[in-house]
Amino acid sequence: MQLLGLGYLGVAGPEVAGFASFAADVAGLMPVAALADGALAFAADARRFRLAAYRGDKNALAYLGFEVAGAEALAKGVAELRAAGVAVREGSAEERAAREVAGLAVLSDPAGHRLELFHGAASGAAFRSPAGVARFLTGELGLGHVNLIVPELEPALRFYRERLGFADSDWMDFGPGMGGYFLHCNPRHHSVAITCIGPLAGLHHLMLEVPGVDDVGQAWDRANAAKVPISAALGRHRNDGMFSFYMQSPLGFHVEIGCQGRRLDASWKAEPFLGDIWGHEGLAASLGSIAGGPV
Ligand code: FE2
Repeated sequence: MQLLGLGYLGVAGPEVAGFASFAADVAGLMPVAALADGALAFAADARRFRLAAYRGDKNALAYLGFEVAGAEALAKGVAELRAAGVAVREGSAEERAAREVAGLAVLSDPAGHRLELFHGAASGAAFRSPAGVARFLTGELGLGHVNLIVPELEPALRFYRERLGFADSDWMDFGPGMGGYFLHCNPRHHSVAITCIGPLAGLHHLMLEVPGVDDVGQAWDRANAAKVPISAALGRHRNDGMFSFYMQSPLGFHVEIGCQGRRLDASWKAEPFLGDIWGHEGLAASLGSIAGGPV
């Protein structure tokens, strides 16, 4: 299976109205027309949408969409998954219409997160950020990255590596059965991080990459002006080199705004590491506060 990148995600929770203003005015995403299933939708580039928000009783990750090259790649990927014993179904006509994609398959990861494989995403209007963000770095890098919290590392890692074709970038060992693993499927250092800190499952954060330090600083100013809780102060990660900060969205998960993320090539060697170069105070404590919960 060759994934092109993280394509879109859906999130849910009670504070959808607060999330809508956070997404537009602080994160700088562009609000666009609601999707056919009623989700509030936000664009990050010329794609019709990249983030969908649903009203729900509790904060949760609704789905993650990973892009494949086309109908043939999707059919081949589904066949490989089925041959490996993974339950995967074709998306219904309603689901394809709601996501505005040409082809869709639906499955779950071992932690129960709903995953979608898709191709043929619709385009939308030209991107214009209500917060003045020049652009988000997407294209061949995909939307950004997510950090998923899982209750058991080994089944999740096996699934993302062997079933979805991700490769290791590096990892942090937190002790027996605990750690953070960073996985790539395109030149972005990681599109998915898998973290285990105990019996929890859910979405910890979505990272959106902007062109430069001033774009991160302006997002930092918007977050503070809007009194958005800062979950990790400014800092630079050791592994992906990202200069960033994290803030907690009204739907429980965090949004990392960063720049200067590392790009990998074939010469990259996966190695363990620990800690950041500097900053990101609060990040470790934020790992227990996610969209999702105990399992
Ligand atoms: Fe991150």
